[in-house]
Amino acid sequence: MNRFDGKTALITGAAHGIGRACATRLTAEGARVAVTDIDIAAARSVAAELSGAVALTCDVTDPASVSDAVAQAAAQLGGIDILVNNVGVAGGVRLEDLDEAEWHRQTDPTLHGTVRMIKEALPHLLTATGGGRVVSISSVNGLAAIGDVAYSAAKAGLVNMTQNLAVDYGAVRTDSVGAESGWIRFNVVAPGTIRTRVWTHSDESMERMRRIEKLYPLGRVGEPEDIAAAVAFLASDDASWITGITLPVEGGFLTGPAIAMPGIGR
Ligand SMILES: NC(=O)c1ccc[n+]([C@@H]2O[C@H](COP(=O)([O-])OP(=O)(O)OC[C@H]3O[C@@H](n4cnc5c(N)ncnc54)[C@H](O)[C@@H]3O)[C@@H](O)[C@H]2O)c1
Repeated sequence: MNRFDGKTALITGAAHGIGRACATRLTAEGARVAVTDIDIAAARSVAAELSGAVALTCDVTDPASVSDAVAQAAAQLGGIDILVNNVGVAGGVRLEDLDEAEWHRQTDPTLHGTVRMIKEALPHLLTATGGGRVVSISSVNGLAAIGDVAYSAAKAGLVNMTQNLAVDYGAVRTDSVGAESGWIRFNVVAPGTIRTRVWTHSDESMERMRRIEKLYPLGRVGEPEDIAAAVAFLASDDASWITGITLPVEGGFLTGPAIAMPGIGR
């Protein structure tokens, strides 16, 4: 029995990397997926490989694009049971160089884009059979000091927003005329370093990734499939009594500083 038979999912930024792996995993477990992205050509080729998937343009920074993509996904798939908010934009800019435009370039897609997606998808998630499920991709950057102040602050924002939404939408409510609302589980996955084009696009960034790899107790950086497995768990009924949490999926990176201490770490 597939965990997502009969379920539908919309995934943002699903043309590459982690989003693509999530689309592949949910499809493999029976879901019909809307592969959404600003890179529609790549989204189309991902969707073409996945049974029952559709490709849609969705720029999470553009309210009209978000509205259109959610409406199209719901119409073409017959609803939205699962929303995976995967888009995030990092910057590597120190505070003294962080002007207004750069702050918005990073925080708007990473935090506000997620808010836009959730707001727009809310009516569909609330009518999902067995409850809606939202999984947002944060980062270890949202949980500790790892640099990149704007990106990290936006990723930390996802953690708190998820806690509040988990409380607001966790249980069925009855309104004054006796109509019942639906419910939604909201959770976060916080990846450590994952081998995507973010790291593999140049020799310099590959070298940086190899140096960072030494800080991982499990001795390797993550693969997109490591994150997709956690997303699938939180979106599935296996996690039916889990809401409002942030699950670090980071090869032990946040466990403690011993690995980086001379004479203690390896
Ligand atoms: N790779 C890592 O080491 C790592 C670590 C922690 C967290 N993350 C997070 O995981 C998520 C995915 O990262 P990735 O490494 O797979 O990146 P990626 O660049 O491989 O994929 C990101 C996707 O998002 C799309 N995208 C970018 N801006 C968009 C927008 N405005 N609207 C819609 N789509 C947009 C891109 O076209 C791309 O397909 C991000 O939120 C990132 O912050 C990544």
